[in-house]
Amino acid sequence: MSMSGAIDQNEFRSALGAFATGVTIVTATDKAQGDVGVTANSFNSVSLDPPMVLWSLARKSSSLPVFEAADHFAVHVLASDQEALSNRFARGTSAEKFAGLEFERGAGGSPLLTGTAARFECRMAYRYDGGDHVIFVGQVEAFERSDRPALLFHSGRYALAARRAANLEQAQPEAATADRFGEDFLGYLLGRAHYQAYGRIRPVLERLELSLVDHFALSVLGLRGPADIQEINALIGYTGYRFDPAVASDLEKRDLVVPVDHGKLELSEAGRRKFLEAAAAAKAIEDEMLEILDPSEADLLRHLLKRVIHGTDPGLPRLWLEDGSAG
Ligand SMILES: Cc1cc2nc3c(=O)[nH]c(=O)nc-3n(C[C@H](O)[C@H](O)[C@H](O)COP(=O)(O)O)c2cc1C
Repeated sequence: MSMSGAIDQNEFRSALGAFATGVTIVTATDKAQGDVGVTANSFNSVSLDPPMVLWSLARKSSSLPVFEAADHFAVHVLASDQEALSNRFARGTSAEKFAGLEFERGAGGSPLLTGTAARFECRMAYRYDGGDHVIFVGQVEAFERSDRPALLFHSGRYALAARRAANLEQAQPEAATADRFGEDFLGYLLGRAHYQAYGRIRPVLERLELSLVDHFALSVLGLRGPADIQEINALIGYTGYRFDPAVASDLEKRDLVVPVDHGKLELSEAGRRKFLEAAAAAKAIEDEMLEILDPSEADLLRHLLKRVIHGTDPGLPRLWLEDGSAG
């Protein structure tokens, strides 16, 4: 089958990529040929009554014989943290795709992967010719939905979903121009979001008789354990505040930190209580923010903020390690 002469295949692909989709992995099994699974974004809903879905598979796919023979398949709508799983099922042999993966069995024995945003177990209802693809239509026999945010695919790249808030005024066109400060000025948005949300920690710190720099230092010691003045300064450097020896000896006099070996400081019992109280207040503010944002938006906001932090990082040490724990 060849492309019509008038259509450039790359341009066509790129135009199709303008249509944002989720990402699925479709699995099936066959007694003789074993388990197969492919990453597919061609999935779509077809009918509500009876419940039906479709997807299409390239004729050149090595999994095709199994999907041609199977009487069932399972569609897994991937969650935003399943990009690696998506890549795993987009290349390699079937054995490599399933190697080391734990899975259950669904209708017709189809492998059922876990941690997904949704899952549909289908009976194969129809197969249609679709040019260089085969279109499979399944009748849904069972499904599951979680509240995990979905992974998206758009313009050939993975993406995250953001709900459009209907009640936010669109920026005035003139405000968006680079040479003017306006409501869409990023510095204003980042600053206002930070001060407005986390400004509410200030009365808590006042009650605890902690300055901001006291709070930063106690937080470093509380999260990471003993550290010296230089290490604390490196870790709070991004704030623009400095933890001077005078502030350190003041904290020591107030019995909030105690010196330990090698010039390091450690939280005292009283220091730990204040650290925990301030941390609880910060956590409460985060919980309030998570009531404004749904899980996929919170995911997206974290992702974008990390990109800004990464893109502007002058090489400061990281307070948090890869696994989310403090270093
Ligand atoms: C995001 C994404 C979406 C994809 N969607 C499809 C699709 O809808 N249909 C398809 O045939 N291949 C699709 N692919 C490519 C297949 O996943 C890949 O070619 C497949 O794993 C082939 O496996 P197989 O040859 O072992 O069957 C997609 C790949 C990615 C990364």
